[in-house]
Amino acid sequence: MLVEKQVSLQPYNSFGISARAQKLARITSEDDLLALMAQPDWTVTPRLILGGGSNMVLTGDVKALVLKMEIKGRRLLDAQEKGWLVEAGAGEVWHDFVAWTLAQGWPGLENMALIPGTVGAAPVQNIGAYGVELQDRFHSLDGIDLETGRSFSLDAAQCGFGYRDSVFKHAPDDSRSLGMAGRAVITRVRFWLPRPWKPELGYLELERKVAELAGAVPSPQQVFDWVCEIRRSKLPDPAVIGNAGSFFKNPTVTPEQCADIIARDPKVVHYPLPDGSVKLAAGWMIDACGWKGKTMGHAGVYEKQALVLINKGTAEHPCTGGEVMTLAKAIQTSVYERFGIRLEPEPVVV
Ligand code: EPU
Repeated sequence: MLVEKQVSLQPYNSFGISARAQKLARITSEDDLLALMAQPDWTVTPRLILGGGSNMVLTGDVKALVLKMEIKGRRLLDAQEKGWLVEAGAGEVWHDFVAWTLAQGWPGLENMALIPGTVGAAPVQNIGAYGVELQDRFHSLDGIDLETGRSFSLDAAQCGFGYRDSVFKHAPDDSRSLGMAGRAVITRVRFWLPRPWKPELGYLELERKVAELAGAVPSPQQVFDWVCEIRRSKLPDPAVIGNAGSFFKNPTVTPEQCADIIARDPKVVHYPLPDGSVKLAAGWMIDACGWKGKTMGHAGVYEKQALVLINKGTAEHPCTGGEVMTLAKAIQTSVYERFGIRLEPEPVVV
């Protein structure tokens, strides 16, 4: 099993930050991983698992052994009257997988079109967009325990999904004892796509599109096209402008805290949740603090969506992870001073 030395990670992180991996192994199969684990220094080497690098801020060179997950393959496992069971390797590109399922006639993932990253990274932060989260279509996943080399499978309950959260984001010694961060890699993910297909159109911008149809029911392809159009209109394409999607999670507050904020800022965008709490639009708050389009060093706030931090440098002189984090901290401070809310970053800081 080849371990490459001094590998540039710039093409492998969607921010386009320049950093090197001292050691990097490309994992194209379960056997690759087991061969790597059989090497004598495996147990003492710290590891970093890399999918599409679209939810990550690199603040320097990576000393840990980088496991770049490149396991491919996608297939239909079962077709029943009630739905389709589809599987993909962790290294498949998420958007290509979504488009492929649709082309095969197995809809259900279209609201999550164009989310950057790989299939294997999708459960880690329970990706979601336009009213659908990964957990709504998830069936199960396979992984390998990096301590024991044993294969395992987890169902949705065992993954402990939450809003942009799962057991894979928590360290093993976390209070949630199921934590698996750094302890396991995801190798394959299975999705259950229910039949008959029902469009999920609850999100305001999709509701507007439906209104234009004057009563006709949209096709899965139409929903896919709408989602792509909406995303392209307000989110930067990481191939053109480096970014990691939403940089902060939308915070949840009590109805009392929300009422207090509304009393001072009546326009604050907020959504009541089924459990009685209220979700606030972090993008709106950052925008209200005047950050949209602002730049600090070579990092900036996207001019069409204040929740997205972007690389304002060039390919030769990209922004650094330090610049991104300095900007992020300045934003956190001003949002805290105005709204009393501590914004929590969504990407992993390495
Ligand atoms: N808003 C502003 N100014 C801004 C940004 C947003 O006023 O600069 C307002 C919008 O007008 C809207 C509200 O804030 O009323 C929410 O904005 P938007 O609909 O763009 O969604 P979001 O809450 O900012 C979330 C996800 C996105 C996902 C979209 C669509 C999080 C952290 N982000 O963004 O996910 O695509 O909803 O479902 O939950 C990601 O996680 O990387 C991501 C892009």
